[in-house]
Amino acid sequence: MCGIVAYAGHKPSQRILVEGIKRLEYRGYDSAGLAVIQDGKLALQRAAGRISSLEEILDETTAGGTVGIAHTRWATHGAPTTSNAHPHLDDTGRIALVHNGIIENYAALKTWLQSQGKHFSSQTDSEVLVNLISFLYHGNLVDAVQKALKEVEGTYGIAVISSHHPDTIVAARKGSPLLVGVGENEHIVASDAAAIVEHTTQAVYLEDGEMVVITPDAFRTLTLDNITVDKELENIEFSLQQIELGGYDHFMLKEIFEQPTSLENTLRGRIDLQAGRAILGGLENVKEQLAQVKRIIIIACGTAWHAGLVGEFLLEELARIPTEVEYASEFRYRNPIIEPGTVVIAISQSGETADTLAALSEAKDRGALALGVVNVVGSTIAREADAGIYLHCGPEIGVASTKAFTSQLAVLTLLAIYLGRRRSLDQDQAQRLLQSLTEMPARIKNVLCLSDQIRKVAESCLGCDNWLFLGRGYNYPLALEGALKLKEISYIHAEGLPAAEMKHGPIALINKGMPTVFIASSGSQYEKVISNIEEVRARGGMVLAVATENDTRIQRHAEAVFTIPDVPEPLSPLLVAVPLQLLAYHCAVGRGCAVDKPRNLAKSVTVE
Ligand code: AGP
Repeated sequence: MCGIVAYAGHKPSQRILVEGIKRLEYRGYDSAGLAVIQDGKLALQRAAGRISSLEEILDETTAGGTVGIAHTRWATHGAPTTSNAHPHLDDTGRIALVHNGIIENYAALKTWLQSQGKHFSSQTDSEVLVNLISFLYHGNLVDAVQKALKEVEGTYGIAVISSHHPDTIVAARKGSPLLVGVGENEHIVASDAAAIVEHTTQAVYLEDGEMVVITPDAFRTLTLDNITVDKELENIEFSLQQIELGGYDHFMLKEIFEQPTSLENTLRGRIDLQAGRAILGGLENVKEQLAQVKRIIIIACGTAWHAGLVGEFLLEELARIPTEVEYASEFRYRNPIIEPGTVVIAISQSGETADTLAALSEAKDRGALALGVVNVVGSTIAREADAGIYLHCGPEIGVASTKAFTSQLAVLTLLAIYLGRRRSLDQDQAQRLLQSLTEMPARIKNVLCLSDQIRKVAESCLGCDNWLFLGRGYNYPLALEGALKLKEISYIHAEGLPAAEMKHGPIALINKGMPTVFIASSGSQYEKVISNIEEVRARGGMVLAVATENDTRIQRHAEAVFTIPDVPEPLSPLLVAVPLQLLAYHCAVGRGCAVDKPRNLAKSVTVE
């Protein structure tokens, strides 16, 4: 899960490359480097740590070159050290490579190359690839890259330069995203559009097995068998301003506060209140098959998996379709049963999560109708799916997913109503839900006002190292999400559970001063939640609650209450998510954690 950028143009590339990988730093941030062709030679600079550490060492040795490659890393093979940082040079020092992905057969290749006299200076799989290219190089860089890639097993997004060919960059992808920005006398290759949009909004997206050769004035897309591939120029749909902090301390906070707008964008043009119908243009070409749906399997990872769990409740209640939710990483290896009428829905913000992508391909190969619920336009899952629904919530930079989660919930609600109205859901019920859904952006705006109250509670709990999050029904997945948010950005151990599960073991954890966050919004299981709260309080546990406004009872049962407006139960997760996001955020800030780039994590998990 690294970020790669390559530039061929007429401007000095050092600054362009550094700014480019900075925009991709959420993909990996444990070491970074760049290489440029300068005075006919390859010049390399690398550093362990954040890109800021690289900037500290940059000097004139790489300042002049107009063709170069750069990388920000999330280590898979070899610790995050300077010698393992990318770019890697071959042992002649004439070819340099940056790589995003995993070369699975690198050990065997390395042993063989060593037997052929090749030398290595790192523990990485990527250095094996550049030495293989070097071994196969006989004056034609494109040919050497093609031959080498036919020998490797695994995934890659690569960019290669050589002092033999000072104005040329060769790039290729299989399993890792790569696109080419087409500008005025300059071309930029990158792992995602965030590194390109500052220079051009015109791009071509590479598919698996494709490569591109760029120079300052031209680009050619081709296959590994050297067959030219004609590609359509596509427009990058977001602006530079959208990927800037905009006065907020962190992207996560910015994205939490963007939710009224991002949700509006997700709902725009998709609600026909009069008819009580959801309009999902992206499903038009498969609506006949959808009418035959017998079973739905949702596949996802992390926060997207939690959204899928809420989707299960929605699809079963509103559309009466049997629905299961599977961890993509388990589903793909479980020899799943796919019968006619099975629809598989892959939920993924990035659209690049390797396990979700592979699970979707597996389901497709077995005959399922494959749908995607994705945020990143043009991403691999969006391309792989038969049809789908874009979130349209704008770029999400913070590693901890927030606005994409609430947009996923909104899209799953629209999908359940879309399918339900074609089955047993009546117009009135659909209209009531859709009416309430249109009011959600404004309601979220109100809930955001809790931020200060939540900050104070978070600050009073900074010393607590173990937390529990409990909910029932629609809000049991939100308990899981609340725990995940706290874990991933504040490094506090937290567990989310269905509240009734406490009695079957976890209640043994309860002790004085252990925060237990209950989701106690109004709904069919409110009374049950109150009894679960009493069980915890009886054992001295500290209770924090997310509850519905005007609920006076809950005040007697909790040390702190975060109130949300009263909405239909199926929609309550959309509001409950916000205080849980803010709680995690304020705990992380209070503990001095790197909120946007939490340790050991990356925004898009493109390796298994
Ligand atoms: C959530 O905050 C995490 N970043 C992570 O769990 C994420 O949800 C998961 O990796 C799935 O990512 P995707 O939605 O891009 O597929």
